Amino acid sequence: MTTDSSSSQTVPASSGLRGQSAGSTAIATVGKAGVGLTYRGYAIEELAARSSFAEVAYLLLYGALPGRAELDAFQQRLKSAQSLPKPLEQVLERIPRTAHPMDVLRTGCSMLGVLEPEHNFQEQDRVAERLLATFPSMLVYWHHFGATGERIDTEAQGDSIAEHYLALLHQQPPDAEAGRALDVSMILYAEHEFNASTFACRVCAATLSDFYSCITAGIGTLRGPLHGGANEAAMELIQPLKTREEAREDLLGRLGRKEKIMGFGHAVYKVSDPRNAINKEWSRRLSARAPDGYLYEVSDEIESIMQREKNLFANADFFSATVYHFVGIPTSHFTPLFVMARTAGWAAHIKEQRSNNKLIRPNADYVGPAPRPYRSLDER
Ligand code: COA
Repeated sequence: MTTDSSSSQTVPASSGLRGQSAGSTAIATVGKAGVGLTYRGYAIEELAARSSFAEVAYLLLYGALPGRAELDAFQQRLKSAQSLPKPLEQVLERIPRTAHPMDVLRTGCSMLGVLEPEHNFQEQDRVAERLLATFPSMLVYWHHFGATGERIDTEAQGDSIAEHYLALLHQQPPDAEAGRALDVSMILYAEHEFNASTFACRVCAATLSDFYSCITAGIGTLRGPLHGGANEAAMELIQPLKTREEAREDLLGRLGRKEKIMGFGHAVYKVSDPRNAINKEWSRRLSARAPDGYLYEVSDEIESIMQREKNLFANADFFSATVYHFVGIPTSHFTPLFVMARTAGWAAHIKEQRSNNKLIRPNADYVGPAPRPYRSLDER
């Protein structure tokens, strides 16, 4: 039982709707048989090994993997949509340097919705593609302006959203390995069935609200450390540690103090998170090129201890932290990168909700006071 401080009323602990179906989807399966993840029937392992994020985004948005001509046209549309409109740049310039980058994307999404509104649902694909294309530009434009006052050019760079983001961030083309590492990470983060932020998008979509409002609801929900924010919290845990011994001592101390370790456990997977092995391999591979590559060993040790002491497995957020770090991405961009990828899944779910809509409006079990007479102010 927990106490609702506003009324001193005790309410039963929430089940968080675990294990309950909240609707149907044809987009993804999560944790069937305790482990797997599929996007429209394709196993995540195969998509991560053989596909690109652009192909996966197309698959999610339009229901089938693109052919060569469809992919070329899709990538061309994304490239030509990557520049920011001037009034959006001006808004980004006014957001303080100290703001959280998730607040920047939330605000940027809202502002784009003001400048280029969705007039009717026939425009939903245009809006989805525009948001996929502009989120990296928004983040990095604000990043550089806040740091140096420089107004960077957000014209398309590179062959993928990942390369565009890295090229703008570092102001030089990324090498192929860094670009592919980020592209694979975006595939892994692109979609995850009825997770909290996607469900928020669907609740908003079910009111027949506009696309930008739905995505803004998703960003706000993803921001919390129990959801998307976990990769940043994992990096903060990992970064100060230098050796396996330090990792062991630090972690056992935290577990002794009953701290929650971010990047471990999952609400649906029971055995393992299928995205972890892929991220872990990329982290190992990239550690060879990083000055603090020992953080891979540190992470590996933390993973072993969590398995041994708590029987908890690493989720997608744990090794993605070092993947991002090893390619030179600032920690505060980790959750925004999740937004850039998950926009594909959110958009697919908004479209699916709209295609067969019913307002989402569950009931609550009332546990408050029994009916009672109202007393006037003087009688209380
Ligand atoms: N570190 C330490 N203990 C953890 C833990 C973690 N990361 N995740 C779960 N546990 C423990 C809980 O303390 C709880 O112990 P108790 O029964 O003794 O109270 C038990 O495992 C069940 O936890 P609960 O939060 O109820 O599990 P859940 O399945 O509802 O929650 C998460 C799933 C993801 C919310 C949870 O594992 C978590 O908070 N993880 C850290 C945040 C994170 O990585 N989020 C990204 C998810 S992809």
